[in-house]
Amino acid sequence: MKTLIIFCSRNGQTKKISFYIADIIRMNQLCDVININDAIKIKLNWKQYDRILIGASIYYGHFNPIVNKFIKYNLCTLKKLISGFFSVNLTARKSDKNLPNTNSYTKKFLINSPWKPDCCAVFAGALQYSRYNWFNKNIIKIIMFLTGGATDLNCDIEYTDWEKVKFFVNHFKQLK
Ligand SMILES: Cc1cc2nc3c(=O)[nH]c(=O)nc-3n(C[C@H](O)[C@H](O)[C@H](O)COP(=O)(O)O)c2cc1C
Repeated sequence: MKTLIIFCSRNGQTKKISFYIADIIRMNQLCDVININDAIKIKLNWKQYDRILIGASIYYGHFNPIVNKFIKYNLCTLKKLISGFFSVNLTARKSDKNLPNTNSYTKKFLINSPWKPDCCAVFAGALQYSRYNWFNKNIIKIIMFLTGGATDLNCDIEYTDWEKVKFFVNHFKQLK
């Protein structure tokens, strides 16, 4: 039994969550973690995997188009595997917007995607002002101000609920 985790991350939080998930899976199963930018270029040896997890973050209301490209390209294979999807964004820091059916980006993705994962989760990401360029820093600050979030440009905040991630992985591991 081997799981493949494919992650699409720009500032590292989805990557961090993916490696955290892999550490849990590796306690008693095999697991590989691959950046989607690499996965799209190489010929994956699908025969070794029976499970897949795809994780992606949101930028300006959208997942990176490479996520849908990867899904479209590998759809037949994805349909045969036990599968899960997790999305990462800052809207999910709010308790009424952190479920697949209450997080608009994730809800829309699940409706429109030809791939229907067996399980899905939404995780709050990280606010990383220190990593953003001048433009993004100020746009995000305005969005945070309007939505009651942190606006101190000298302060990065990780909103990810690691217990929720752990719960999701344990559920995913039990899927048959
Ligand atoms: C330029 C920019 C745009 C963003 N747009 C959104 C957005 O539209 N909705 C949202 O909920 N979060 C948004 N976020 C927050 C990211 O989804 C969050 O920081 C996430 O942790 C990023 O994950 P990554 O580091 O794996 O790319 C945005 C962040 C940045 C820097």
